[in-house]
Amino acid sequence: MRILSGIQPSGTLHIGNYFGMMRPSIELQQKGEAFYFIADYHALTSIHDAKLLREYSRDVALDFLACGLDPARAILFRQSDVPEVTELAWLLSVVTPMSLLEKCHSYKDKTAKGIAPTHGLFAYPVLMAADILIYQSDVVPVGRDQKQHVEVTRDIAVKFNAQFGEVFKLPEPQIREAVALVPGSDGQKMSKSYNNTIEIFGDEKALRKKVMGIQTDSQPLEVPKTDLEKNPAWLLLKLLASEPAFAEMDRKLRAGGTGYGDLKKAVFENYWAYFAEARKRREGFLKDPSVIDRVLKEGAEKARPVARATLDRARKAVGL
Ligand code: ADP
Ligand code: TRP
Repeated sequence: MRILSGIQPSGTLHIGNYFGMMRPSIELQQKGEAFYFIADYHALTSIHDAKLLREYSRDVALDFLACGLDPARAILFRQSDVPEVTELAWLLSVVTPMSLLEKCHSYKDKTAKGIAPTHGLFAYPVLMAADILIYQSDVVPVGRDQKQHVEVTRDIAVKFNAQFGEVFKLPEPQIREAVALVPGSDGQKMSKSYNNTIEIFGDEKALRKKVMGIQTDSQPLEVPKTDLEKNPAWLLLKLLASEPAFAEMDRKLRAGGTGYGDLKKAVFENYWAYFAEARKRREGFLKDPSVIDRVLKEGAEKARPVARATLDRARKAVGL
């Protein structure tokens, strides 16, 4: 089984990225041949600062390694170190109906958030299809917001195969329902673009402040709490705490006499403990950052021949 996923280096990674994409990817690295990449071509749709893009790309690699990505098991690389993918994107684009891209939510969502409505942003799903298809991927672990893109990928692959002969495997998205949508501090989807994130790594004091700032309703301390399933702090504790610790806090809240301040304190403590080991590993990598460059270089060397082989088949199929 080949597993593939990508993440854009468009900002600092947060625990929504971790639970939705990174943790499932890291778990899957044991189960097959894993290809994980830093989608820097994609990030160019929103970042036009060369220094920043380079920094974010290395930071994503660092954070992924710190969180447990094992380069001995999974191939980690920069998307742009395998430029074959952009040529495949062109070959796919000639069988991609405009209507398929017009249906995509992400273009509408992103332009609504102020990202420039460029051709690159509109054609983003075609490049993502090329990413997935060029490695003949079976499984794509992502958060729920990427499901449509994997479906578009399948549609494009079916069209290409029907027109030019069987070149591509059809991939399946893998979405864990329990973590498909991690809420941010305001209760909306946690996202870099909503200013509601809790980063995986960062300064303790600043992060404590963010956690204590999670929005809640105004039920007073004494009353038995209701509607907890809508409370972002409760939802986050469920992800971060052990089952018995979560059950105990849940019981206390429902009994009354325990307030949201206590809940948020528990969220912070569990969050800080949850990533303690990763934080230590990250400090280790920071002592010798050349490891990151080496991992990315070796990753690209392994990924590129696989991509080249698929691209050659696709070129031949279309008559180039
Ligand atoms: P952001 O919305 O912060 O820009 P990205 O779009 O870069 O995040 O997402 C990178 C990966 O992390 C994708 O697989 C996405 O589905 C997942 N992801 C992002 N935010 C969340 C979230 N709040 N809950 C679950 N998964 C998420
Ligand atoms: N679009 C994905 C995101 O924003 C990143 C991505 C690019 C990706 N190519 C991919 C994810 C291929 C999975 C497979 O998060």
